[in-house]
Amino acid sequence: MNDPTIRQRKLDHVDLAMNDAAVSGVDAGWSDVTLVPVALPNLNPGDVDPGCTFLGKSLGAPVFIAGMTGGHPDLEKVNLALAIAAQDHGVAMGVGSQRAALVDEELVQSFAVVRQQAADVFICGNIGISQILDGQAGKDVLNKLVDMIRADALAVHINVLQELVQPEGEINLGKAYEGLAEMVATSPVPVVVKETGCGIDRETASRLAETGIAALDVGGMGGTSFTAIEGLRASSAQDHEGARRARTFAIWGIPTACSVLEVANVGLPVIATGGISDGLQAAKALSLGAQLAGIGRKMLTAAIQGPEQASAELGRIIEEIRISLALSDCRNLDEFNSRTPVLTGTVAQWDARAK
Ligand SMILES: Cc1cc2nc3c(=O)[nH]c(=O)nc-3n(C[C@H](O)[C@H](O)[C@H](O)COP(=O)(O)O)c2cc1C
Repeated sequence: MNDPTIRQRKLDHVDLAMNDAAVSGVDAGWSDVTLVPVALPNLNPGDVDPGCTFLGKSLGAPVFIAGMTGGHPDLEKVNLALAIAAQDHGVAMGVGSQRAALVDEELVQSFAVVRQQAADVFICGNIGISQILDGQAGKDVLNKLVDMIRADALAVHINVLQELVQPEGEINLGKAYEGLAEMVATSPVPVVVKETGCGIDRETASRLAETGIAALDVGGMGGTSFTAIEGLRASSAQDHEGARRARTFAIWGIPTACSVLEVANVGLPVIATGGISDGLQAAKALSLGAQLAGIGRKMLTAAIQGPEQASAELGRIIEEIRISLALSDCRNLDEFNSRTPVLTGTVAQWDARAK
């Protein structure tokens, strides 16, 4: 069944994400994290190996291209460009919510292109918590999501504030953790829970860990803001209530750096997404305890221009990670993880709470 509303929403999201108003006005926290510079390192950037493993798969660098797109025929080329970049550099990649392709066969290809192009990379599927809790994601559906892209893992996005602002938002919480635990038990691949711009707090992370999930993506505040995007959509749909709510809650959430500190000790691998646009910010996220740095908007902007631009941008980011490690006198991520950054301001305050 072709659902023009979902298709259009996916295109709107990509268009609106390119608008500067879609970026949170709050700092993700990177200026409060300082990697201690080693004035005379005993190695060259070329000696640094930024490789790592994530949920059992080897990656060329600790980077995750955030799940963003698919769900409209015009978005196939964007996913294609992202997949080429991921394959070129051996990094992990997510797709956007696959919900649209469950109800509209024509949209499957906009997601399937990712595995067709990136045979070897770690690919993460995506579905919303609402679909899980509404019973729309039983065993058959989970298998279909995974088979569509031969996914290595499945992300469940939580976005309570977005649902409360979105004109067509739907939310039915109450049995969230039971529903998730059931889904984890049914899923053929490991499950990652991700936020999409408000971050994850320590208490939620601990409760999520008990459901058996395999990893967390903090999706913190400071980068792309779905509250802002839905606010822009609400305004253009003359939904004054929704637009007002988006303004009221524009600053609601945990900055990405702070959210990484919040969840780093719950015993799950952590992806730091939200407001990372270069390799130094990625390295700072890793220094706080994240295994991977997730990058959305920056990669989307490049991918819209084409595969070469996407691959080149990713190459620049990975090179900046390499330089950050070299300037810290570390040959690999294990050595880098043993170093402690200096924290100031808001990030230091959240660090005190996390201890
Ligand atoms: C256009 C667009 C669409 C997105 N769609 C989804 C989605 O379907 N599912 C999801 O979990 N996250 C989605 N995200 C959120 C990203 O995965 C990521 O958490 C967010 O963009 C923050 O990273 P950034 O600040 O680097 O952009 C989307 C982001 C963008 C920009």
